[in-house]
Amino acid sequence: MRFSDKVAVVTGGAHGIGRSTVQRFLDEGARVAILDFDSAAAADLAAAAPGRAIAVLCNVLDPGSVDAAVASVAERFGGIDVLASVAGGELPTDDPMDEAYWDGIVGLNLRGPVRMIRACTPHLTASRGSIVLVSSVNALVAFSSLAYSSAKAGLGILAKNLAVELGPSGVRVNVVAPGTVRTRVWDDQEGGADRLAPLCPIGRVGEPEDIAAAIAFLASADASWITGVTLPVDGGQTAGPLTIINHLQRSEP
Ligand SMILES: NC(=O)c1ccc[n+]([C@@H]2O[C@H](COP(=O)([O-])OP(=O)(O)OC[C@H]3O[C@@H](n4cnc5c(N)ncnc54)[C@H](O)[C@@H]3O)[C@@H](O)[C@H]2O)c1
Repeated sequence: MRFSDKVAVVTGGAHGIGRSTVQRFLDEGARVAILDFDSAAAADLAAAAPGRAIAVLCNVLDPGSVDAAVASVAERFGGIDVLASVAGGELPTDDPMDEAYWDGIVGLNLRGPVRMIRACTPHLTASRGSIVLVSSVNALVAFSSLAYSSAKAGLGILAKNLAVELGPSGVRVNVVAPGTVRTRVWDDQEGGADRLAPLCPIGRVGEPEDIAAAIAFLASADASWITGVTLPVDGGQTAGPLTIINHLQRSEP
């Protein structure tokens, strides 16, 4: 119950990693605001914890929507202790250098979290709270997806700068970089997420709960002397090329 009496805001809380993060904060005693543009799914989840979870319509691409959503949470819950910025993802494209595609990816995965941070910071400095941003292993090593990887990599240095700026106000800022996690984003790929299990030394892909546990740790008082770090949570996917070499050797006829 590390979050009794705390208020957590989770963007992208309606599905996948965000949904598990909402559940984890609720399980540990928090009141949770689920910020998502899928308001039906967010409302379904909130209905399971009446009085402790609220669904707030929010499109992180739209500064006005972000400001209104954060103001509504602060008014209804009386403050904000944790921002977990989970909303993000890859977008379809035929041209990985297309202008509009890059704008879309950076808008969602880098500018979106920045908008949330800007809106939440006054509340987080008041509560001496904590920010956790969700990046990707794509920010750490080359897994292709140029725009997505670059936008996610921006979160790491954003967190370091904010850790320095906001540390004196008692606000910590950290990043979780998930490896392959079994969510709906893999559904349309042959073999799904499990196709990448051989690249995980731990022997399996991640579940959303694996990432939620790391987000909760970094947001909690257990991490009270940790700020400005990026924590890979990836079953060892980025530990080094030995797993791939072993896999290739095992696959040889
Ligand atoms: N699944 C993976 O393998 C994996 C790996 C590394 C990083 N990630 C990152 O984890 C995060 C969550 O991914 P997921 O796999 O759970 O995806 P998901 O599609 O299951 O969930 C994403 C959530 O964000 C919401 N969302 C999307 N755009 C939004 C917007 N503009 N405004 C508000 N809400 C919006 C969606 O409605 C959804 O609830 C993303 O940032 C993603 O880049 C995922």
